[in-house]
Amino acid sequence: MVVQVLTESDRRKIDRSDDALFYAAPRFVQHLDGGFRARLTELYRQRLPAGSDLLDLMTSWVSHLPEEVRYPSVIGHGLNAEELQANPRLERFWVQNLNRDQTLPLGSASIDAVLITAGWQYLQQPEAIAAELLRILRPGGQLIVAFSNRMFAQKAPQIWLEGSDQDHLLVVARVLMAQGWPQPEFVVESTRSPGPLGWLGGQGDPFFAVIASKPLG
Ligand SMILES: C[S@@+](CC[C@H](N)C(=O)[O-])C[C@H]1O[C@@H](n2cnc3c(N)ncnc32)[C@H](O)[C@@H]1O
Repeated sequence: MVVQVLTESDRRKIDRSDDALFYAAPRFVQHLDGGFRARLTELYRQRLPAGSDLLDLMTSWVSHLPEEVRYPSVIGHGLNAEELQANPRLERFWVQNLNRDQTLPLGSASIDAVLITAGWQYLQQPEAIAAELLRILRPGGQLIVAFSNRMFAQKAPQIWLEGSDQDHLLVVARVLMAQGWPQPEFVVESTRSPGPLGWLGGQGDPFFAVIASKPLG
């Protein structure tokens, strides 16, 4: 059973039109700067053993996985088929608007790790997604939700739009724990700007991650 955490007003977005329209044209851009992306790739290198079956949920043409590590299967999900088609790490993918339908077309206990980067902030029904993620992960499987302090404001639900960075970490944790996930770990770090600005101490996109593991039992 899905346990609701957000109120109806928490879920409201400025742009209430179908999200599929917003993502209809491909965006072959990087949504996060080089400092953030390098930190995320390092986190994946540390946390995702080679041989894991991965799901990159809410992805695009990039998955930020370490190039030298082989994962037998990386399944992708997103809202734009052209972007997903161009993602070299995906073995297969599907397109689904998670604000319309939260049931994931994957078997129970079939995935070792789920990655969500700069995506959770657009979920209007995160509780149902959190419950589905618990279902599809194998015991001991990991969820890594990474984000920075930027968003498409018109597409972010009010709770994310109005919350601080700390609020964002806490609400992801609250939603997960309400569905039976154990207390997650937080990673909160600053990053360096890529290139000469960084050498001079310039800051990049701040790095936040919520990491949770499905209980073994
Ligand atoms: C800012 S992009 C991040 C893409 C990618 N994860 C990355 O790291 O660059 C946000 C992504 O969230 C996904 N997304 C947004 N709204 C969605 C929705 N309603 N249903 C499913 N996916 C959605 C899309 O795949 C979109 O590419």
